[in-house]
Amino acid sequence: MTSLDHSARTISPATGKLGVLMPGLGAVASTLIAGVMHSRHTGEPPLGSVSQMAHIRLGTREAGRNPRINEFVPLADLDDLVFGGWDPLSPNVLEAARTAGVMKESDLAPLSGELEGIVAMDAVFDQRWVSRITGVRVKSETNMMEQAEALIADIEKFRVENNCDRLVMVWCASTEAFQQPSDVHATIESFEEGLRNNNDNISPSQIYAYAALLSGVPFANGAPNLTTDLPCIVALSEREGVPIAGKDFKTGQTLMKTLIAPGLKSRMLGIRGWYSTNILGNRDGEVLDAPENFQTKESSKLGVLDTILQPELYPELYGEIDHKVRIDYYPPRGDEKEGWDNIDIFGWLGYPMQIKINLLARDSILAAPIVLDLALFMDLASRAGESGVQEWLSFYFKAPQSAGPNDPEHDIFIQQTKMKNTLREWMGEQPVTHSEAG
Ligand SMILES: NC(=O)c1ccc[n+]([C@@H]2O[C@H](COP(=O)([O-])OP(=O)(O)OC[C@H]3O[C@@H](n4cnc5c(N)ncnc54)[C@H](O)[C@@H]3O)[C@@H](O)[C@H]2O)c1
Repeated sequence: MTSLDHSARTISPATGKLGVLMPGLGAVASTLIAGVMHSRHTGEPPLGSVSQMAHIRLGTREAGRNPRINEFVPLADLDDLVFGGWDPLSPNVLEAARTAGVMKESDLAPLSGELEGIVAMDAVFDQRWVSRITGVRVKSETNMMEQAEALIADIEKFRVENNCDRLVMVWCASTEAFQQPSDVHATIESFEEGLRNNNDNISPSQIYAYAALLSGVPFANGAPNLTTDLPCIVALSEREGVPIAGKDFKTGQTLMKTLIAPGLKSRMLGIRGWYSTNILGNRDGEVLDAPENFQTKESSKLGVLDTILQPELYPELYGEIDHKVRIDYYPPRGDEKEGWDNIDIFGWLGYPMQIKINLLARDSILAAPIVLDLALFMDLASRAGESGVQEWLSFYFKAPQSAGPNDPEHDIFIQQTKMKNTLREWMGEQPVTHSEAG
């Protein structure tokens, strides 16, 4: 649809239950599930969720039409969500939440029965990709194609047992070791051949994505590993008519980066260096302590500045940036990560200045509402007839994927406009241009 065509899309209604399946029932997934249940029980708003809290302007400013997004587009209701997932360690979501230690026992206690009732399915897990975890609840199949078939059977069983109308899958499992795409990832056929032959370059996240797409289930990747950004997975999502999105939830330090960098650039302030360091003590931090897993995260975090700052257009301002990112595993902090950023900037006459940021964040508290929004929006995209890469959801990702040959957009304000204008277009409303007349 072009921006000149304002007839609404046909979007099927969000009737019945929406199953939200997550490989990885760890800190993020358990905080999401407990948070949604807490909201349902108390009626408290799901803070941080754009789909539930943000308003969207329709038409001119004078028109005064500002519904909430969930009143404007047909999203599944929080009461209609059913959760499930796979994990090689966590037996159920209550245990996962307790291990993660994100939420207080007093917040978990009223939900304990429900959380305990969500039992992890046995995972497709391979320690070669996550060396710091020794999996115990792991599928017995050793052939990768058989593992994919076992996942497809799990998905179908979950759908039937929970009477789900639709399903979505969001990868909330550990970050896998770094890899580049290889020949096996080139086409659907080579990938399937690789599954049958247990190709060493196929990781578990890729098997989950394959199983989801063949089951008609939209798949979003919350971690930086290579999954939705593989040619075979993109082709499969287009062939099966299923949406995909990735990758790596944009929280914490990268969120700050994409808030601050566009602001500095908007005023043509130069940047000479950006040094970011973190301490993190949760299981995610432990997994990222392995150099091969950190490398995956590092490459996802480093891409951000270049695309926002466009050094090719502004060599005098951004042509010589030293950008460093460090993460140290520091157990005493648990999920309460601390990040420090030192930004060396310069302005008029080249005089140097500095910005220091000290972010004391709770990782899973920032990530949980993103998972909720992605689940609801991926389901919306599917009902709107979308398939392939959902570029309009770049807003949520550290390393967003573009649907075409263009570089992905990292500037969070452009991403937000793109997301809201996509929703406006689907609903037959004019895009908001913020021009004098608009
Ligand atoms: N919290 C954030 O702010 C944030 C931001 C961006 C990305 N992420 C990513 O989200 C993911 C989840 O983060 P978390 O803090 O919940 O980590 P976590 O370690 O608490 O949970 C991950 C879970 O995945 C499980 N797992 C590992 N391999 C698996 C497999 N093959 N199948 C199924 N389960 C598997 C682990 O046993 C663990 O329980 C990580 O990859 C992290 O890098 C988190």
